[in-house]
Amino acid sequence: MITERVKELLSEIEGSQARNKEELEAFRLRYISKKGVITDLFDNLKTIAQEERRAVGQELNTLKNLAQTRFQEFTALLENADDTGSTDLIDLTLPVVPNLNGSIHPLTIVRQKIIEIFERMGFNVSYGPEIETDWYNFSALNFADNHPAREMQDTFFISKSKGEVKDDVLLRTHTSNVQVRLMERQKPPIRSIMPGRVFRNEAISARAHCVFHQVEGLYVDKNVSFKDLKDTLYHFAKEMFGKESKIRLRPSYFPFTEPSAEIDVTCFICKGKGCNICKYSGWVEIAGSGMVDPNVLENCGIDSEEYTGFAFGMGIERITMLRYGINDLRLFTENDVRFLRQFEGA
Ligand code: DAH
Repeated sequence: MITERVKELLSEIEGSQARNKEELEAFRLRYISKKGVITDLFDNLKTIAQEERRAVGQELNTLKNLAQTRFQEFTALLENADDTGSTDLIDLTLPVVPNLNGSIHPLTIVRQKIIEIFERMGFNVSYGPEIETDWYNFSALNFADNHPAREMQDTFFISKSKGEVKDDVLLRTHTSNVQVRLMERQKPPIRSIMPGRVFRNEAISARAHCVFHQVEGLYVDKNVSFKDLKDTLYHFAKEMFGKESKIRLRPSYFPFTEPSAEIDVTCFICKGKGCNICKYSGWVEIAGSGMVDPNVLENCGIDSEEYTGFAFGMGIERITMLRYGINDLRLFTENDVRFLRQFEGA
């Protein structure tokens, strides 16, 4: 009879739970305490026939041990309960909570890639100020006094000079200012790339922004030729856009280079066949470039008889847009996580 009762209690304890302090206390009172059911059964032992007492005693001990083990488990579980007080064991069948990692900004990804490629070709990285004087941004780069790029429509001026001497302070309109600063302080050979932020007084649209990024490149040494420029940029295009990429140079004009060329790369979306990204020409423009004008070398104290150099400048936004098929510049600055998350693991 007592054995039936033990069985009953065993399964009762097996099926019991203590999800909070109250339930734990109820469990303790019923099974552990001196006034509980198990103590009662022990008290009843003496009413049992001598021959059976030993066997029943063992059963009761099993029951008591189970109750104690369960009590300890419940106590431990409650101690580890989470903020909601829930002690439910971890449900391994639940889908994992997504771990939202941050992502690197696409402009940073592309800038790092550009730096990596040029570093492998022996270029180092230089930086210069974003607030600049007219000299470094324009005059030293051979811009004529009346060059249209100096006009208010392009340049954010911080202060305008009053007298004859042009000492305007402005936000740099390109990273070419760093060329001048570098040549001024370092004797050739110079082989450097200069990433940075530039500013132009433009209305913000899908295709233009008043703040954007460029990477400038400069190589000055004895016997640097136009062929070096072509080879360097050809290698860059293949590394950046794929092995099959080709480049083409179109004659152009910049005050600080002579001759100057615009560099196009075969459209890597359509592989040169023609698509809406390349406006069905098969080519996309990626950089301006040229041989450093002797006037610029001289302005920086470098003997233009002894040294020659090439320079180039490219827009990071443009290359990023081409690489990822992004069609609106504003996405780069709006910090919309739906856009940024697409570059996780890129
Ligand atoms: N500074 C030019 C711009 O902002 C880009 C450029 C063109 C840089 C030719 C150069 C160069 O160094 O050689 O449009």
